[in-house]
Amino acid sequence: MVAFRLPKKSKVDEGRTWPAPASAARVKTLKVYRWNPDDGQNPRIDTYQIDEDDCGPMVLDALMKIKNEIDPTLTFRRSCREGVCGSCSMNIDGANTLACTHPIAASEGAVRVYPLPHQPVVKDLVPDLTNFYEQHKSIEPWLHTTGDVPEKEYRQSEAERAKLDGLYECILCACCSTACPSYWWNGDRFLGPATLLQAQRWISDSRDEATEERLDDLDDPFKLYRCHTILNCASACPKGLNPAEAIADIKKAMVERGD
Ligand code: SF4
Ligand code: SF4
Ligand code: FES
Repeated sequence: MVAFRLPKKSKVDEGRTWPAPASAARVKTLKVYRWNPDDGQNPRIDTYQIDEDDCGPMVLDALMKIKNEIDPTLTFRRSCREGVCGSCSMNIDGANTLACTHPIAASEGAVRVYPLPHQPVVKDLVPDLTNFYEQHKSIEPWLHTTGDVPEKEYRQSEAERAKLDGLYECILCACCSTACPSYWWNGDRFLGPATLLQAQRWISDSRDEATEERLDDLDDPFKLYRCHTILNCASACPKGLNPAEAIADIKKAMVERGD
């Protein structure tokens, strides 16, 4: 039977408020999604007030301040804190981005912080990206060669190397895939923009000898062709990459070989 109501546990409740210290000169409010799989409660939005003059400039600085000084139960991922590891991706003020490179000052009012959308939540701001990582693994993201291994290195001309620009910079943060409507509806079978951009990174590599096999693997109505060029992925990428263009290049390569 079709259910027309949302499940009871999907309602997001108003949570607890931690007021700013009395000495705070510049108060900033963060409204943060919280969910603990172990307490049987609905998700909630907790409100934290911090002093911006006593905090680093980025949203990740604020989350770390909250965790270290206010509420140690707040759970999120982070590592490099400079936009290279991809682990602090989350949804801030309605857009997927990296908390470590997103300024607190970008929010005029309260900063609204949620996990990446359309993924199961492990806890608080941590999405379950198991499927995303499995999909990345499925494209065999490493160099495939059959000949002898060169003594020093595989050589590339400058022009061949330049073909990897706009692809190799991807940090697998998943901001693009979790912003893609086609991935929301068919994420189990459509590989999504991040994995397809990574696939194109290996297809374009002059040193790789498995181009045909890679294209054979992607030649599937769901894996590749669920991309309808909606372009959310390009707007979402915090590294300024264009996964839609990479996907178009894969489709072009399919046409050129007669698929
Ligand atoms: S262009 Fe393709 S991959 Fe990018 S958001 Fe649109 S449907 Fe998704
Ligand atoms: S293409 Fe951009 S948004 Fe997508 S995973 Fe890579 S770095 Fe993140
Ligand atoms: S902590 Fe590494 S990208 Fe933000």
